[in-house]
Amino acid sequence: MADIRIYGDPILRKNAGSITVFDDELKAFVKQMKEDMYKSDGVGLAAPQVGRSIRLSVVDPTGGEEEPYVLINPEIFYFSKEEEDYNEGCLSVPDITLQIKRPSVISVRAKDEMGNEYTLEKIEGLLARAIQHETDHLNGILFVDRASVVRRQLISGKLKKLAKSHHNKSKA
Ligand code: NI
Repeated sequence: MADIRIYGDPILRKNAGSITVFDDELKAFVKQMKEDMYKSDGVGLAAPQVGRSIRLSVVDPTGGEEEPYVLINPEIFYFSKEEEDYNEGCLSVPDITLQIKRPSVISVRAKDEMGNEYTLEKIEGLLARAIQHETDHLNGILFVDRASVVRRQLISGKLKKLAKSHHNKSKA
């Protein structure tokens, strides 16, 4: 199980690099990420969260009922005007959940670990939610950034504590 990077770790704020090589190392890494996602009970996991600043995430809103989606170099090319609130959390921001407003319906284009391009058209629900959350990770954005100002103020103390504990750990 890889170490999950926690709020305050600079890798979570980087713009991750595109993937151009689809080799065995990448396939092994994707397999490891799927396992880590299930072990941590997440509906998704992005590569920067396990210490690699590359444009890759795995998503499974079904809790293991279906084969997870592998999204490499994802591009969300449609966002509905209609938005909805949903209570989000993140393995990198432990013990914090917040209502986050996002478009209800999206379309996304991505590659799998074989390098095959595929498109998910007009998807909604938890799948659309998780793909937006994970794609944000590849752009250095965390869900707390998208909370309303009032909601963010309510958790600012907790966030400072998280960032500080990371800081102490990296000095140790
Ligand atoms: Ni997350």
